[in-house]
Amino acid sequence: MENKCILIGVSGGIAAYKINQLVSSLAKKGNDVHVLMTKEAEQFVTPLTFQTLSKNRVITDIFSLDEQPEVHHIALASKADAFVIAPATANIIAKIANGIADDMLTATFLAATCPKLVVPAMNTHMLENPATQDNIEKCRRYGMHILDSAEGYLACGDIGKGRMPEADVIEDALSAVIETDRYLEGKNVLISAGPTSEAIDPVRYITNHSSGKMGYSLARAARNRGAKVTLVSGKTNLDTPVGVTRINITSAAEMAEAVLSLSDEMDMIIMAAAVADYTPQTVAENKIKKKEGEFVIPLKRTTDILASLGREKKDGQLLIGFAMETEDLIANAEEKLVKKNADFIIANSINEKGAGFAVDTNSVTIISKDGQNRLGLLSKDDTAEEILRFCAKGRV
Ligand code: CTP
Repeated sequence: MENKCILIGVSGGIAAYKINQLVSSLAKKGNDVHVLMTKEAEQFVTPLTFQTLSKNRVITDIFSLDEQPEVHHIALASKADAFVIAPATANIIAKIANGIADDMLTATFLAATCPKLVVPAMNTHMLENPATQDNIEKCRRYGMHILDSAEGYLACGDIGKGRMPEADVIEDALSAVIETDRYLEGKNVLISAGPTSEAIDPVRYITNHSSGKMGYSLARAARNRGAKVTLVSGKTNLDTPVGVTRINITSAAEMAEAVLSLSDEMDMIIMAAAVADYTPQTVAENKIKKKEGEFVIPLKRTTDILASLGREKKDGQLLIGFAMETEDLIANAEEKLVKKNADFIIANSINEKGAGFAVDTNSVTIISKDGQNRLGLLSKDDTAEEILRFCAKGRV
């Protein structure tokens, strides 16, 4: 999310301090961030903090004589690309559900026509109160997006639902609501990501260096464009993108079962996972003890999921695979395209600087029967955007 105008409404909850990080992160990415605070919020964080981080004047209810705040807030409302209220107290949710505009924050919110994200944060019982639940439902009906609160330790000492999600989760949810070109709206997209791991015995396994980053970037990008995304994921250290359904798997066989059983209901399948081609013929029941001399583990082939999809199950789905090569990148990728009957193969060379495992950038070439398109060095998020735009826009 870059170069957008984002309004952040902060109401009076203890979680207000976490918004510093959101404002800072969005501003650093070149967004024009404007913070609006209720009087109660000012008890928790000073406007000066947000002003310093956003580099914009913070809108509070204190009018200064040399400005025309009413005009200013309407102007802000009309130039906003998104409006997020976080933390949103029970009180502010009640107001926005009923069109009450009795301070600068709520008045600007009412005037704004951009996508809106509301992040409830309050005591569990206040959240569960039917009045609050009705108000949240009403906000939903009016087209606002609601980010579910997290569970955990609450400032009041209770443990339960009502915690405000961390700033990076709010930013992720915001990136999903801000996109207006939702060319995958209503489409079912399955993305596989990360490594598989093949057990040798109860202690050891065979795996690879995949971090899952490219697959997770694709999942976020597809979700941002409106798709209903299922992520079949090997073990990674990454957070599940907001709104994405994640199915955790360990082995290639589990990944094959998950992907093949869901494939019929999908409009597009992207196999970004690094699936093991071989697995031990048998898994030892007990830990294997070392002995003198060499040790050989007999391996057998796993199901080639992409090939099974392409050759046996394909029924209108757009099928995209990856090829990571160390030599003859294009020729090998073209061969995979034909052999696995995929629509596109995203080829990358791990020899290229900035491409490959664990880094945040990638450099890929998209191969199809119509030719090749080189994207060059981009962040994995931008690579994901470009892959979807090139391969999926107008095709699913
Ligand atoms: N793939 C799969 N099932 C497997 C192995 C790979 O679906 N058992 C998918 C990967 O997710 C990726 C593509 O196939 O989209 C990679 O093709 P593959 O032929 O496995 O790549 P390499 O292992 O690099 O191939 P090779 O050993 O033939 O170079």
